[in-house]
Amino acid sequence: MKAHELRDKFIEFFVSKDHTQISGASLIPENDPTVLFTTAGMHPLVPYILGQDHPAGTRLVDYQKCIRTGDIDAVGDPHHLTFFEMLGNWSLGDYFKEEAIRYSHEFLTKWLQINPDKLSVTVFAGDADVPRDVESAEVWKSLGIPSERIYFLPREDNWWGPAGEAGPCGPDSEMFIDTGRPACSDDCRPGCKCGKYFEIWNDVFMGYRKTPEGDYVAMDRKCVDTGMGIERTIAVLQGKTSVYETEVFVPIIGEIEKLGKVRYGNDAQTDTSVRIIADHVRTSVFILGDQRGVKPSNVGQGYILRRLIRRAVRHGRKLGIEGKFLGALATVVMDMYGDAYPELIENRDFVMTELALEEEKFSTTLQKGEHEFEKMLPNLLKGNTRVINGRIAFKLYDTYGFPIELTEELAHEHGFSVDLEGFDDAFQKHQEISRAGAEQQFKGGLADHSDLTTALHTATHLLHQALRTVLGTHVGQKGSNITPERLRFDFTHEEPMTKEQLKQVEDIVNEVIDRDLPVSFETMTVEEAKEKGAIAFFESKYGEQVKVYSVGDFSKEVCGGPHVEHTGNMGHFRIQKEQSSSAGVRRIKAVLEK
Ligand code: ALA
Repeated sequence: MKAHELRDKFIEFFVSKDHTQISGASLIPENDPTVLFTTAGMHPLVPYILGQDHPAGTRLVDYQKCIRTGDIDAVGDPHHLTFFEMLGNWSLGDYFKEEAIRYSHEFLTKWLQINPDKLSVTVFAGDADVPRDVESAEVWKSLGIPSERIYFLPREDNWWGPAGEAGPCGPDSEMFIDTGRPACSDDCRPGCKCGKYFEIWNDVFMGYRKTPEGDYVAMDRKCVDTGMGIERTIAVLQGKTSVYETEVFVPIIGEIEKLGKVRYGNDAQTDTSVRIIADHVRTSVFILGDQRGVKPSNVGQGYILRRLIRRAVRHGRKLGIEGKFLGALATVVMDMYGDAYPELIENRDFVMTELALEEEKFSTTLQKGEHEFEKMLPNLLKGNTRVINGRIAFKLYDTYGFPIELTEELAHEHGFSVDLEGFDDAFQKHQEISRAGAEQQFKGGLADHSDLTTALHTATHLLHQALRTVLGTHVGQKGSNITPERLRFDFTHEEPMTKEQLKQVEDIVNEVIDRDLPVSFETMTVEEAKEKGAIAFFESKYGEQVKVYSVGDFSKEVCGGPHVEHTGNMGHFRIQKEQSSSAGVRRIKAVLEK
């Protein structure tokens, strides 16, 4: 079964079970300071799992593009990926364990025709806080999975979430296919990394909410969140041992073979480089081509993108590819995914231009940097440690644009390690940036719907409308990030704003706050929303139900919420800073003062 068939079948199956198909979201989470990228299908649905009504109902299904960068350095082996697609179905206070497991079983055995004898499942073993999940085990048994293939495992294995520091989570039940390979030891079981068991699906029973203080609170309204990785699942269905052997990667790898005049599958080092390039280019195309696409930069998502592109270029050079090559590979990726993700086609020019720019920039710095590194090498080798000090690593970063991870990789190739603490020290003295910045992102808590963030969210709508009033309707949201302390809003506009314009915007927002306007929402299709003049800067399928929030007669915007009920007590709105974010995009940081 091919990836697109699996995607279609999954949706069809759950639609036949009264689920509504919703659009997957952007890879760049909105209003979520806890993560850089969307890492799971449930991510965009957190507010609904926590209790808000979803406009499309209580049974949902979708496919979602995801990026996980935790293991970025492990990419290169036959299994790791930074980008993947996740299929998911959700019950928002509708069905729970029994139906979820029955659906999973039916889809796997009837629709995918997986031999039930090859299925093993795991369930939560229980601990001091949450009881053993006997209920799920009983459902699996009733479906014919024998006890010896139902494994009760601890929290490390069978608990999922929260996605950030706080938010919905719960015990889960994972499904594995036995590949038939011999067990690596007597302890070999689902979850073992030896490759005998391949995980394909995860049903999470979202019965708890982890608070920012670390307590687990049972939720009254129980939800189900499931996730099936497309790449892994088709690999096992096709009898492949690696995702890189499936049709999702074969065309990209074929192009790399052509460009580098190499053969995949003959030499371990070549294969590693080929996989790194294939994975990193695919992910870069999805980041650049996203509906909220970002450019390479030194912060946040842009920094991850820069690392991916630069690492791909470097491995291209290792394979002996000369000249620019990312564009040719990006074309393969866009052609392959354009149907499922039309934004890639819409943003094709942007993807190609930005890739070429970064590739060019880096090719020059790479040559200089590698040359510099080679020059340093004799001295380094004379020293009595095999550690490159932080100042040198920082110099390579600062002067030659070498991401620290690349310096580490280069160092490792010559038998060195890098003093990362020293690098961070040098770095922090210099500027506040991405590595630190990325960690900061995890502080807020995904499910922070405190009064402060809710008020800032409403303030964001007011700001958006005020900007359009003052600057013109070309102003559109490019990004938003809210912490309990401040809001940050990126929007399309060419020039810096003048003092007068900033003052006007502040005054308008404060006037609306003073008028104590009511905030309410209505559910309608996105077409109706647009007809009614609502601002709608986001993807959604034709006819899809969305929420439209109105602040009195002042603003109307498509949004998931939550918002304050009326504007009166929000505080005094003040813009702290207005600066450039990237070409044609400005950034405002603002606060609400009590
Ligand atoms: N959210 C769950 C996962 O990512 C389904 O595995």
